[in-house]
Amino acid sequence: MQKPSINTITVKNLVNFLLILAVILLGVTALNFRSLSQHAIQNQALAHAELVRAGLTAHMKAGIMDKRDYYLDEIKSLHQINKLRVIRSQEVVSQFGPGRSTESLADDFAIKVLETGRPLFESKEWSFLPTMRAIIPYIASSKGVLNCLNCHKVAEGTVLGVVDIELDISGYRNHSIYVLAIMALLSMLFLVLIILNTRRTINSHVQTPLETLINHAMEAYQKHTPVSPDQFKTREFANVAQEINLFTSDIIAHQEMLKEKNRELIALNDEIESTLRETIYTMGVIEEQRSKETNNHTRRVMLFSQLMAQKAGLAESDTDLLTAASPLHDIGKLGIPDKILLKPGRFTEEEFLQMQNHTNIGFSMLKHSRREVLKAAGIIALQHHEAWDGSGYPQGLKGEEIHIYSRIVALADVFDALHTKRIYKEAWELDKVVAWIREQRGKRFDPALVDLFVDNLDEFSALGDRDESSIPGAGCVSH
Ligand SMILES: [Fe+2]
Ligand SMILES: [Fe+2]
Repeated sequence: MQKPSINTITVKNLVNFLLILAVILLGVTALNFRSLSQHAIQNQALAHAELVRAGLTAHMKAGIMDKRDYYLDEIKSLHQINKLRVIRSQEVVSQFGPGRSTESLADDFAIKVLETGRPLFESKEWSFLPTMRAIIPYIASSKGVLNCLNCHKVAEGTVLGVVDIELDISGYRNHSIYVLAIMALLSMLFLVLIILNTRRTINSHVQTPLETLINHAMEAYQKHTPVSPDQFKTREFANVAQEINLFTSDIIAHQEMLKEKNRELIALNDEIESTLRETIYTMGVIEEQRSKETNNHTRRVMLFSQLMAQKAGLAESDTDLLTAASPLHDIGKLGIPDKILLKPGRFTEEEFLQMQNHTNIGFSMLKHSRREVLKAAGIIALQHHEAWDGSGYPQGLKGEEIHIYSRIVALADVFDALHTKRIYKEAWELDKVVAWIREQRGKRFDPALVDLFVDNLDEFSALGDRDESSIPGAGCVSH
């Protein structure tokens, strides 16, 4: 899963934080509005109650109490009052009678106010048409402009009655909702502006410089050019650029040192491989000298094997391995006594068996090596007298049971032995050699190799003419 960007994480956290903040602010504001509105409405109700009280007192003094309903209706319609009624206390009823029927209906709220003398307010703000009911008592007092006790035969502080007012508060509520909606819209607008500004700041001061730094750091590493700290506006990125330059120059210095060490190691390895190859070749020559083989037999077998491996399409590594290992094909002869090895006449059967054992001796000499070239030489030493049809020795292997290296060396060895002069025979003419090898196709030799030999006879027969001072493929052994 792709990881989120710095921008995404910052914006997400900011949105969450600002949304919570906006909700809290709007909630606190709404509660404040409610409290202020209630306070204002209660004051309004108290003012209306005072107006009603003053009006009723004036009616009473003027003796026109029968006209008071017109007055109350007028107040109702002028001040957006849903309901307005006056309820007399028991003391007033006793003195002046029950009054109008509407004045005598006191519910539980009104009774409570009549008893306690403290105003009560009940709001229904969540209904479709929100209202507040205010029940405000009139207390008899001899103080102030009017002395109630002049008319009312009651004690000071007696509750004379209440005014029960139901006010329409939808105006307050609608105004509050309107202001809150405006505030919510403004909050959203601020939120969007803050997010846009934050994104722009991160892009310009974090993301872009970071990407620039990464690109320049890669370029600095690849092209060995320093990252310029001056291109960054902020101190932090300029410092990182300087650190990258120090780090890159350190890496480059180490790389150069490693390259030099590597070159030295390659040269040393080449030297070791070349020495090993020459040593193997020299061992082959030592064996060749002791066996009184024709001069340069080892070298010609080596060249033949190399050319045949190439013609047979072996991999370059296999060709190198075979070329380097082939000089040791008869190394086992070092373990054959001189009286047998150098015997001029025919071998007895026992001597012949001992002579054949040079294959096993050679393998025993080489089989314990962990070097690929010596392991290959061991296989060649063991199998170079095997025949394609199974008539060879020492194991009587057949066909492809015989390793391709051994099949190639077998052909190379016999070709050179026949084509050159030996103590016991003259060199055969090339035609005779070729005829004999063709005759052995599928018997002693791999038929495919014989075909390659015949098809490229000119190249194979010219191998002995090469410069004899060089060792084929010297320095190419990599095993
Ligand atoms: Fe041999
Ligand atoms: Fe040989």
